[in-house]
Amino acid sequence: MKDRLALALILDAERSGALKPGQTVVEATSGNTGVALAMVCAARGYPFVATMAESFSIERRKLMRAYGAKVILTPAAERGTGMVRRAQELAEKHGWFLARQFDSPANPSWHRNTTAAEIIGDFAGRRLDHFVSGWGTGGTLTGVGEVLKLARPDVKITAAEPQVAALLQGEEWHPHKIQGWTPDFVPSVLNREVTDDILKIDDLLARNTALRLAREEGIFVGVSAGATAAAALRVAESAAKGSVILCMLPDTGERYLSTFLFEDVIDGSDDEWLAAQ
Ligand SMILES: Cc1ncc(COP(=O)(O)O)c(C=O)c1O
Repeated sequence: MKDRLALALILDAERSGALKPGQTVVEATSGNTGVALAMVCAARGYPFVATMAESFSIERRKLMRAYGAKVILTPAAERGTGMVRRAQELAEKHGWFLARQFDSPANPSWHRNTTAAEIIGDFAGRRLDHFVSGWGTGGTLTGVGEVLKLARPDVKITAAEPQVAALLQGEEWHPHKIQGWTPDFVPSVLNREVTDDILKIDDLLARNTALRLAREEGIFVGVSAGATAAAALRVAESAAKGSVILCMLPDTGERYLSTFLFEDVIDGSDDEWLAAQ
């Protein structure tokens, strides 16, 4: 999901002249935007530096470095705000281009033109009752939500956020395990007006739903996707019979092998299981 955003941020900055040929790009990221920016920057000839809180998965650091990027870790205690501040400081000090996914209009704009346009195309002439998404920058929720409000005004938009960090519901932020969701601030690109309902999802339910998607549906996804699917299942509980519910699954599960998503999954041989056969 973040590959499009990264391309949008870079193409937009090239077009406006804000990004000069060969200039270093820097961005604060919970990891997926960083991986995507590292890929786009490698392909288009820009050095890339990510600032990322140390609490995000090791897979993300290694993937970015595989694309030739540098990763500067910030203390988990400084939260999302800390990594954003560090990126700003580095941009100012070294004259680097700051990609600003949390503030750039290119973020929701690209989702309006791609994600939303694809949804409108795929559901042309077909029933669609609900759209469910979590939020990190809010780009997906805002871009898709704004287009659906215009093109399919009957579709109900549900935002989901962590149980312990329900910022859109006016609650306090506490650390949560749904990587990619809800930093400790509400980003400027997020348009609250598009949401009809907001649900809270607990870390464990997010994890268990991600594991269920793999085992029961063959869909191998990350924690935020599990959380979004859990929110969609909750919408289904009270939706009219036959309702069509669409939800956004942002990421593959392979970026979470080192996290709590897999803490109960063994990495040795299944000998005990074999003995019981
Ligand atoms: C795994 C994951 N899920 C969800 C999101 C949230 O998407 P958005 O930034 O469009 O709100 C992100 C954003 O970084 C993410 O990395």
